[in-house]
Amino acid sequence: MDLVVIGLGYVGLPLVREAGRAGLRVGGLDRDARVVAGLKAGLSHVDDVSAEDVEHMLAAGFTPSRDEDILDGARTIVICVPTPLSTDGGPDLTAVRAAAQTVARHLDPGTLVVLESTTYPGTTDEVVRPILEESGLVAGEDFHLAFSPERIDPGNPVYGVRNTPKIVGGLTPSCAHAAAAFYGKFVDHVVQAKGTREAEMAKLLENTYRHVNIALVNEMAVFCNELGIDLWDSIACAATKPFGFQAFYPGPGVGGHCIPIDPNYLSYKVRSLGYPFRFVELAQEINERMPRYVVERAQALLNREGQAMKGAKVLVLGVTYKPDIADQRESPARPVARRLRKMGADLSFHDPHVERWEVDGEPVPRARVLYTALAEADLVIVLTDHREYDPESLTRHARLLFDTRGATRRLEETAAERVELL
Ligand SMILES: NC(=O)c1ccc[n+]([C@@H]2O[C@H](COP(=O)([O-])OP(=O)(O)OC[C@H]3O[C@@H](n4cnc5c(N)ncnc54)[C@H](O)[C@@H]3O)[C@@H](O)[C@H]2O)c1
Repeated sequence: MDLVVIGLGYVGLPLVREAGRAGLRVGGLDRDARVVAGLKAGLSHVDDVSAEDVEHMLAAGFTPSRDEDILDGARTIVICVPTPLSTDGGPDLTAVRAAAQTVARHLDPGTLVVLESTTYPGTTDEVVRPILEESGLVAGEDFHLAFSPERIDPGNPVYGVRNTPKIVGGLTPSCAHAAAAFYGKFVDHVVQAKGTREAEMAKLLENTYRHVNIALVNEMAVFCNELGIDLWDSIACAATKPFGFQAFYPGPGVGGHCIPIDPNYLSYKVRSLGYPFRFVELAQEINERMPRYVVERAQALLNREGQAMKGAKVLVLGVTYKPDIADQRESPARPVARRLRKMGADLSFHDPHVERWEVDGEPVPRARVLYTALAEADLVIVLTDHREYDPESLTRHARLLFDTRGATRRLEETAAERVELL
């Protein structure tokens, strides 16, 4: 194989597709039997890769496998396994360690090994390198080792693996050169970092930047509401500045595999120096408070109409963590639903990407016909603005609408009495 990708998920699978399109012979190793069987049957479990894509990938020679012998003789091995948080909120590198141990058992001289999983600076050198060297081969001398952060943005119709610049950081200059040459085969622009730590930090800087700026507007949303200021309008005005400003929008919290998790990897590393990374910890606190705030606002809205939350028919729209994808990981919809239910709301949900939804093991009823459900609910809360949710129709059919995503902000007539923005 020219390439074997370990971990065939949101990151690994688009990489397989792009490398295959460039003519590389690609294998994939995953420990999940369902993932491998599904791919072999031509099915995709990842939003951005269609079943048709998988068919093309298989036809071009892609071999998904659970058998680690697929690594034998691979020229390049890329590790794309999950990096979640442990129960105490610190990094959980179990999957990265396990994948590195698997690679060590099959490592040949001359192979390029790249870690793509998001992690704290130092992981490639301090965690992955010693495990790989248990093979008896020395990194930077017998084989190449690099870190290259994945920047995939699920659901983004414009930027994918090919046209998003790819950062590579090598253990040595020749490792960096090997990694740049590899990605250069199917990525338009490769950027070389000074080393693995700089590449690891670049990814965490990107995610922390988003995390902190989202927290900034979330905190502003809370006091702007009390001051009677339309923050959405202020953001739209500020965004007309052609330099020095990037628009971020408030919402019911942060979700997905990156923003709520990755900055913790960085604060963990900083804490090892004996002091906190205050920006990250503050952002965490503010963003985590948003689901509770959304429910408080929803309650106030019902109260205004003379209704209690207890017994009110509340319909939440969009339970995935971002629009137009099916990924529910860390979605703020879950804590919002948990609180609504705890307060006695008669809860239902609608999401074109989610058939069944459970919160704490208890199913939430799914509204089948959107417009009937809108008209029947005492309160509709937009949590994720999927493209199916036409703001005009929402406004027309819902009796009372709480829009936490600003979906309705551009409507000329917002039916102000019945529509409230976060
Ligand atoms: N999803 C995103 O948008 C995104 C974006 C950028 C970076 N990342 C990072 O990329 C990494 C992977 O994330 P993902 O979203 O693709 O995860 P994922 O859960 O979608 O896929 C990971 C796959 O790895 C497999 N796996 C786990 N341990 C394994 C092992 N030891 N051997 C073989 N297979 C193993 C799992 O079965 C799973 O199929 C994470 O570090 C994440 O932070 C994710």
